[in-house]
Amino acid sequence: MSEKNKTVSSAEILRQREYMNSIAADNEVFFDTHKFRKKFFVLTLGCQQNEADSERLAGMAEAMGYEKSESPDDAYLIIVNTCAIREHAEKRALSLVGQYKHIKARNPELIIAICGCMVTQQHRSDEIKHRYPYVDIVFGTSSIHKFPELVAKKMSEKKRIFLPDEKEYLVAEGIPVRRESNYRAWVSVMYGCNNFCSYCIVPYVRGRERSRDKDEIIKEVRELVESGYKDITLLGQNVNSYGKDFGADYDFADLLCEIDKIEGDYFIHFMTSHPKDATRKLIDVMASSKHIARHFHLPMQSGSDAVLRAMNRRYDFEKYIGIVDYIREKMPDAAITSDIIVGFPGETEEDFEATLDALRRAKFDMIFSFIYSPRKGTPAAESDEQIPDDIKSARFDRLLKVQADISLASNKVLEGKTLRVLCDGLSKNNDKVYSGRTEGSKIVFFDATPECEGKFLEIKIERGDTFALYGKIEK
Ligand code: SAH
Ligand code: SF4
Ligand code: F3S
Repeated sequence: MSEKNKTVSSAEILRQREYMNSIAADNEVFFDTHKFRKKFFVLTLGCQQNEADSERLAGMAEAMGYEKSESPDDAYLIIVNTCAIREHAEKRALSLVGQYKHIKARNPELIIAICGCMVTQQHRSDEIKHRYPYVDIVFGTSSIHKFPELVAKKMSEKKRIFLPDEKEYLVAEGIPVRRESNYRAWVSVMYGCNNFCSYCIVPYVRGRERSRDKDEIIKEVRELVESGYKDITLLGQNVNSYGKDFGADYDFADLLCEIDKIEGDYFIHFMTSHPKDATRKLIDVMASSKHIARHFHLPMQSGSDAVLRAMNRRYDFEKYIGIVDYIREKMPDAAITSDIIVGFPGETEEDFEATLDALRRAKFDMIFSFIYSPRKGTPAAESDEQIPDDIKSARFDRLLKVQADISLASNKVLEGKTLRVLCDGLSKNNDKVYSGRTEGSKIVFFDATPECEGKFLEIKIERGDTFALYGKIEK
């Protein structure tokens, strides 16, 4: 393919704008009579991509004249943005939606909309239709830009609306965004996935890979930097495929190189990189850049070649560790993090030991580890070599133990060093300390004052623990 990706036409975006304006006019009349504004509440249950989608849904809700609420209880519009990556995520979504029944009973005007990866699957959309009759709107990831139209339709026709998967996945530009933070931001560079790892639901619920136009991305990053954003994360299921769908001679490393030229005081993070096409060029660009954070999130999934093959990951451990070694050669202080799945169908004790050995060899700063969860419609879920739950959990615990020592050692090395930390304000779990993140995305706790939030601080690390660093502001 050499042409550009199909984008939602500007006429279509304009049509959605008209729906937003007309709902906003109705909501203004409501405000005049009731003297309060209708509120919306968004619940986000998935990954960063899902969070970025929620910020657009919130942007559209605001443009429709709704005001944001932190609680579903007083909302007139509830949006549940679901995830399908593991069974736990789906169960959680269903149980939370279950709780909204009472809110609807109290306020029949409430509109409940469910979207995201879980309900893009036909069977989940059907389940909502039959078992959750008070849910008004269900729409899949391909229809996010149509949200205003769906709300308008629900208001005028009163019928329930179901649009799980519209089959056509496009890039939508020009949708209003309501960002959660004024110093950290998400910027999608591409959507969808072509990789079909045998355990993963994402390609079935997000469509094929499509890259955003580079000028749109650069413009968005520039505007964010100009308005004071300090940490911008470029998002895609596999950012290393950026541009491949254009067929042009311009890849993710080129994009990073161009973004890095934007003047300002900020970091660029990106996720996720698929090891099968992480290039030396990308690592070289990072090493010589000014703003690209020295942090590489490179999901390994398993250390066993047999398991990697069965997962359809298209690299072996040797290739994987070659990338890790090259990152460390070029950027000795880079943080490297990874994702690991335990209990993939057919994983033997030797395969699992190979993963433990791989952890010892790769020495990740941190890992995100997951117990394999069969996903309906994926090849691995059909395997008759499923691992019993007790073995999966025992392996999971062993994995965490091995990594704990490695993470601890990688954090101890930082004791006595002064690191640049972006302050996130009071810690969410302990309102007596402040927290922030380093360039390598490590959590740091320290004493500070409210005005530090959203600013870079120089923190002298006094103690490194398994999961966090503790320090003092130096200046
Ligand atoms: N596109 C990213 C991953 C997105 S999903 C990549 O390829 O790296 C985030 C992580 O969830 C994956 O890396 C994997 O470790 C985990 N995951 C995906 N499907 C899973 C499943 N069925 N069971 C358990 N973990 C899973
Ligand atoms: Fe899922 Fe693999 Fe695509 Fe990542 S690369 S989203 S794990 S199919
Ligand atoms: Fe993300 Fe979950 Fe969908 S991880 S892409 S929200 S399945």
